[in-house]
Amino acid sequence: MDKFYHIVTYGCQMNVHESEKIAGILSGMGYKSCDDPEKADIVVFNTCCIRENAENHAFGNIGMLKKLKRVRKDMIIAVGGCLPQQMNKAENLHEKFPYVDIIFGTHNLHNLKELIEKKLNSKKTVIEIEDSEGEICEEDRPLRTSYPNAWVNIMYGCNNFCSYCIVPYVRGRERSRQSAKIIEEVKGLVREGYKEITLLGQNVNSYKGDLTFPQLLEEVAKTEGKFRIRFMTSHPKDFSPELIDVMAKYPKICNCLHLPVQSGSDSILKAMNRRYTSGQYLEKVALLKSRIPDCAITTDLIVGFPGETDEDFNVTMDLVKKVNFASAFTFVYSKRQGTKAAEMPDQIPEEVSKSRIMQLVDLVNSQTRALSQTYIGKTVEILCEDYDDKRKLYLGRDEYGRMGYFPSEQNVIGQFVNIKVEHANGVSLTGNIVV
Ligand code: SAH
Ligand code: SF4
Ligand code: F3S
Repeated sequence: MDKFYHIVTYGCQMNVHESEKIAGILSGMGYKSCDDPEKADIVVFNTCCIRENAENHAFGNIGMLKKLKRVRKDMIIAVGGCLPQQMNKAENLHEKFPYVDIIFGTHNLHNLKELIEKKLNSKKTVIEIEDSEGEICEEDRPLRTSYPNAWVNIMYGCNNFCSYCIVPYVRGRERSRQSAKIIEEVKGLVREGYKEITLLGQNVNSYKGDLTFPQLLEEVAKTEGKFRIRFMTSHPKDFSPELIDVMAKYPKICNCLHLPVQSGSDSILKAMNRRYTSGQYLEKVALLKSRIPDCAITTDLIVGFPGETDEDFNVTMDLVKKVNFASAFTFVYSKRQGTKAAEMPDQIPEEVSKSRIMQLVDLVNSQTRALSQTYIGKTVEILCEDYDDKRKLYLGRDEYGRMGYFPSEQNVIGQFVNIKVEHANGVSLTGNIVV
């Protein structure tokens, strides 16, 4: 009889890609994918703990399986990823959800097969949280689910310890893959027909293999074939002129950069341990714009960091106005146990943060909308990624990351198509194919 798995993923691209690795392990064990947890023999939650609401989301969904587990006792529920990797969280999870069968950390993903086998031979909950990151495992064969896009890890972990951030604690120290392995993976993906490769790392600019990151990017860009290259995330302190040179030299590298600024206030940036000033950030943006004038810059912003005054917030608004980001992810600061910022005085009341985030979201949305308007009448090249059943339209993104919808008689998923833009609604464009 067929056995089925269902994976629920929270968090960043890193986790999305790790779920593909989990899928690879499960399919290697003979499980098949299914969309419905009720039919699954194993449900894996690949969790995130970057903000409290990410955790609550996962808790809610794990809680919902309690009833199902009562009727289907032989079903396996596994919880992995960043949430259980936090200090004492695995025990916590076990107490809260005793019916969860397997709890594993970020460094144990490669052993999932053994953990499942262990569980199948035992009644007890299997809890395995490795503290140290260990060697990079090159054995996993991800079962990719996002054709024509493919994610490729270039490094794992983070050494930056931004004072608000849990990632260094749950992902360990930086480890870089060998460039030869990365280039071999990219070449294989291009041969298989993938059209967009995103190089992944918490801070790709601190890649330390046998090459620097700009050198690695250049080698990847030399791969033959028509495909796009993206990379994320870049930390502004390490974003260099050498990287801009490589971006400018190779048309395959999208003119698009995610450069999280977090705040426009120098005292807040200092308290965040970001190690750049708003002036230095603006200088880097100016240099990038002078070399690649059409480069779309996107960012992450946090409001309500401890000690943030109205004045601090206003300078963040000013910076956003100056840079005119193509889009931005905006977050309310969330206190993470174990981080430096959690101990800081002057935690900001919720109503203050809420009012700030609303103002910031309005500003960002108005910039994104204005930029979308400039697309009307223009022709853009879209890499078709999917079909929207509800809207009966195909969709994909241009090199700047803007989403475009269009009708097509043929299935064009995985193809580059030129679209003449007719409408622009906020963040997305609609148009028709032109030849
Ligand atoms: N490594 C990447 C992304 C890290 S997480 C980077 O350095 O940019 C993605 C974003 O989540 C961060 O850029 C930050 O804006 C936000 N974030 C991280 N910790 C947070 C916290 N405790 N509260 C609110 N937002 C947070
Ligand atoms: Fe977190 Fe900073 Fe590392 Fe990004 S660079 S993952 S924000 S500690
Ligand atoms: Fe979340 Fe872990 Fe990514 S905490 S944002 S899934 S690295």
